[in-house]
Amino acid sequence: MKEEDRHEAAPCSIVHRTSYTVHRFIFALNPNHMHYRTLGQTGERLSAIGLGCMGMSHGYGPFDDTESIATLHRSLELGINFWDTADMYGPYKNEELISEVLVPNRSRIFLATKFGFRMAEDGSRFFDGSPAYLRTAVEGSLRRLRTDVIDLYYAHRIDPNVPVEEMVGAMADLVREGKVRYLGLSEASEASIRKAHAVHPIAAVQSEYSLLSREVEAVLPTLRELGISLVPYSPLARGLVTATLSKEALAPNDFRHTLPRLQGEHWENNQALVGEFAQKAAAKGCTPAQLALAWVLSKGEDLIPIPGTKKVKYLEENAGAAVITLSPEEQAGIEALLERYPQVGERYAPEMMQFVNQ
Ligand SMILES: NC(=O)c1ccc[n+]([C@@H]2O[C@H](COP(=O)([O-])OP(=O)(O)OC[C@H]3O[C@@H](n4cnc5c(N)ncnc54)[C@H](OP(=O)(O)O)[C@@H]3O)[C@@H](O)[C@H]2O)c1
Repeated sequence: MKEEDRHEAAPCSIVHRTSYTVHRFIFALNPNHMHYRTLGQTGERLSAIGLGCMGMSHGYGPFDDTESIATLHRSLELGINFWDTADMYGPYKNEELISEVLVPNRSRIFLATKFGFRMAEDGSRFFDGSPAYLRTAVEGSLRRLRTDVIDLYYAHRIDPNVPVEEMVGAMADLVREGKVRYLGLSEASEASIRKAHAVHPIAAVQSEYSLLSREVEAVLPTLRELGISLVPYSPLARGLVTATLSKEALAPNDFRHTLPRLQGEHWENNQALVGEFAQKAAAKGCTPAQLALAWVLSKGEDLIPIPGTKKVKYLEENAGAAVITLSPEEQAGIEALLERYPQVGERYAPEMMQFVNQ
């Protein structure tokens, strides 16, 4: 879709197009406008807007490796130094793809990947957090990424069959061996986070967080007490809050067809919510995607979102959110809007929700 068409599809399109140009222009002039945030207690400075690479190879087809490679290069020009992938994206293809830009630019990128999801013979997914599988997984990721160290290694989920202390103890061995620099958890409960952190410092917890997914706010005080960053994944609610998502335009095998949020009354609720949200973005002089990311950033310096895109134009737009601040009145206006549309729907279908550690 051409840029013009994309904005035609959004409410208040003229204002969006104008503001989009403004924020994109800022970055064209000077990529040093990117802001940086410190990861946990590591001292590492990461771009306030990271880059989620999943959609380049997984979930949100069709894929275009040439455009994805251009997006990865452009992220470096924009000062985006925090890339997120996982072995299961593709599966495996995403790590191989990003290695093409990672290898010649290794020192400029803080690279996060994850382990634990496996495919059964019948194609179903299961989670394996065992120390034995961890060994296989980390060697596979290092090989595909063509690097000798992973900056941030996450357990993609908590395995109910493996004590979290055992899993994190094995992950800590990888730090001692120099294969991994810092440890993270994804979708972990408060109890799991505390147990893990007692074994080895956890630098980041990656969980879904956006205007439509706020459950992790209950865990934020614990993260703050322990000095752990929150890395919000799907901060654009998988594209839903950008006011550009069309169900009809999704590929037949797009993962989002499985999401309750795109069904029935939830879809109606979310369309109305997003329509009004787009008006707020227009009033602010930015795009809905930028306002959604600015809202996440406004929740604290310890949040480092990783919006996902495979397109240069979206990347540039999202990078522009780093310079947008919200007044208390604007924040309150957004909160009030969310309260008026509570029927957003679950963030996963039950098959995937079972993996979330609660
Ligand atoms: N830990 C976990 O379990 C977990 C789960 C899911 C995701 N993640 C990570 O989090 C990252 C981000 O999550 P996500 O990709 O699911 O969701 P997201 O960032 O909320 O949304 C991505 C979707 O929004 C679209 N988009 C991005 N910027 C846009 C813009 N400015 N205007 C309009 N549309 C825009 C993308 O389109 P295009 O694809 O066309 O660019 C894509 O369809 C992933 O890449 C992955 O690394 C982790």
